[in-house]
Amino acid sequence: MDWGMKNRLGRVIKGGRTVMLAIDHGYFLGPISKLEDPGKAVGPLIPFADALMPTRGVLRNCIDPEADIPIVLRVSGGNSIIGKDLSRESITTSIEEAIRLNVSAVAFSIYVGAESEHQTLMAFSELVNQAERYGIPTLAVTAVGKELEKRDARFLGLSCRIAAELGARFVKTYYCDNFEKVVEGTPVPLVIAGGPKLETDLDVLQVVSDAIKKGAAGVDMGRNVWQNEHPVAMIKAIRAIVHENVDAAEAHKLFLGEA
Ligand code: 5RP
Repeated sequence: MDWGMKNRLGRVIKGGRTVMLAIDHGYFLGPISKLEDPGKAVGPLIPFADALMPTRGVLRNCIDPEADIPIVLRVSGGNSIIGKDLSRESITTSIEEAIRLNVSAVAFSIYVGAESEHQTLMAFSELVNQAERYGIPTLAVTAVGKELEKRDARFLGLSCRIAAELGARFVKTYYCDNFEKVVEGTPVPLVIAGGPKLETDLDVLQVVSDAIKKGAAGVDMGRNVWQNEHPVAMIKAIRAIVHENVDAAEAHKLFLGEA
């Protein structure tokens, strides 16, 4: 791996682990609860995140350019939650724009098994070709659209492997039963999304802990952090699991101590 590629990836995944904070939801969901003002939501969390995942619009308008945080830029879109086909995403942001914005990586959603499977896989491959030219790592997001029930080891294992085969330098997926099978079949680091807000704080910490124990490199979570009543306490507890191998019960105590 080239120095530039290694350096950028190493800024996001530090010592093999990462706590990424996803704030890109508006690109198809609009101003969802607690992310109406992304700058306000994320400002207090930045010191505890290893990387941020915004779109270029939010990055430009809501994130302090002096903030010392690596950016994993979402560069796919073209769909909306009320549109006909949630899987129909293309590249929205050129590689030159990503370079101009000084990003550490670019992110794109692939929709395996969906109507636009071929289109998203080919667009992702094109993004890999462009990004590799400049030593920029690509993050493939194994999207499921509205079909949350798709999140099992068979589907996610298939999606993650395809992403890696097409050249993703790291992959974002979901935690699931038999997650170790997904890890085993994916020869690049995996980070997990949180999905819609879970019922309890302990549930969130348990998912993170289980994912790390089974081989995830970390998290790229959004709603389960900034929709929490105590987002700073939550991200700090997640950090303790990811970077200090604290278990879920211990992290929960830390959370309660900070909340
Ligand atoms: C959608 C995304 C989202 O930005 C991300 O997955 C959402 O994070 P979370 O589910 O933790 O709120 O990549 O495909």
